[in-house]
Amino acid sequence: MKRDSFGSQIGALLAMAGSAVGLGNLWRFPYLVGENGGAAFIIIYIILSFLICLPIFISEFIMGRRSQKNAYATFKNLSGGSAWKWVGLFTIIVPLIVLSYYSVIGGWSIDYLLKSLTFSFSDMAQQNAANSIFTELVTSTWTPLLAHTVFLLVTALVVVVGIKDGIEKFSKIMMPLLFFIVLAIAIYVITLPGAKAGLDYLFRPDFSKIDAKACAAALGQAFFSLSLGFGTIMTYASYVDKNDNIMKQSTATALSDLMFALIAGVAIMPAVFAFGLDPQSGPGLVFETLPYVFGQMPAGGLVAILFFLALLVAALTSSISMLEVAVAYLMEEKKFSRVSACVALFIFCWIIGAVCSLSFGPLSGITIGGNNIFNFLDTLSSNVLMTLGSLFTVIFVGWRLKKTDVYEEFTNGGSLSANVKLFGVLWFLVRYVAPLAIIFIFISGLI
Ligand code: ALA
Repeated sequence: MKRDSFGSQIGALLAMAGSAVGLGNLWRFPYLVGENGGAAFIIIYIILSFLICLPIFISEFIMGRRSQKNAYATFKNLSGGSAWKWVGLFTIIVPLIVLSYYSVIGGWSIDYLLKSLTFSFSDMAQQNAANSIFTELVTSTWTPLLAHTVFLLVTALVVVVGIKDGIEKFSKIMMPLLFFIVLAIAIYVITLPGAKAGLDYLFRPDFSKIDAKACAAALGQAFFSLSLGFGTIMTYASYVDKNDNIMKQSTATALSDLMFALIAGVAIMPAVFAFGLDPQSGPGLVFETLPYVFGQMPAGGLVAILFFLALLVAALTSSISMLEVAVAYLMEEKKFSRVSACVALFIFCWIIGAVCSLSFGPLSGITIGGNNIFNFLDTLSSNVLMTLGSLFTVIFVGWRLKKTDVYEEFTNGGSLSANVKLFGVLWFLVRYVAPLAIIFIFISGLI
């Protein structure tokens, strides 16, 4: 049977951008900026994104498009069947772990969207009220479980339709919608009185706030945000046409991801400052601080609806890419049909996600290293597993693949003159800079 593929270059780009742009941009990036001192963190983030993460992105792209297979088979075939296949298996399992807890947050967004539609945030007089709404939701048993189920079901329904008719079509509709919503909120928010302090916070650097931990957090965030080190880009790249330009597609995806993160920062931080709230409120920023902000601002009810709709859409375009990694694996390696692969993986992720969801309530007594199960999996995935996956990928491309093969794939057989010129720089970054920087930042973040 002919392998499914993207129908157009723009479709492939929007799907990749959809994989990248997600909760990482709207939920994680703003609170990390808040926790790590604002603008200086953003500058470090941009440098790391382009110097280290873009070469990793291109490496995954080269591998996936060269093999035209799932991530496991990509490592296995390109290495000639060696132990590298275990790294391939690793990149199949990690996105399933991420998807499981990601779906819980996706579920919270559904719940918050419904709450905004009934204007539940409009008469909130104090921030405590917003905190209690969030605590009540996450610590209860059934509502977040139901929302997690709905989110995962929608994810599976898009993936079951296939690459061109499901994932590509969905991304083509949702990504422009997402862009306009987030942009509209940002434009509105900067017109609020008092918004300037938030813009200063975002764009005036204070380098005294930058230490090894902040760099490690910026790198972890860049991996998470660009969906690196866990098979998604490699899998999507395997559906990309052989004539597409890898450099252009990768740079465009990285730029859109950065642009979304910055616009999300502009949509959130000035509002937080305009109402005199704490930008360092951590993961609760989006679910605890913002609802209160929406309750205070003129037309906040409408802004809340748009914001939580955007959060949901962004989460969905990413979660479908995570599910596709293992679906491709089960279909190609274990001969599952697309439908049965989706059903099996839905059940698997639902169970782990349910445990994560309950880890704020009935299972909150179970902790690993001081974290509940949900927080443990989030930290483990972005700070350790994705970092390892990315390190393996650059080492594989830089040291295991033949230079001539990498060159051929990156330049489309020497026909793309700009890529021919850039190849030397890429090769140096992939072989030396990226692996050493990953190891250095990873270790110094631990100390
Ligand atoms: N790249 C995805 C995100 O940013 C995982 O949410």
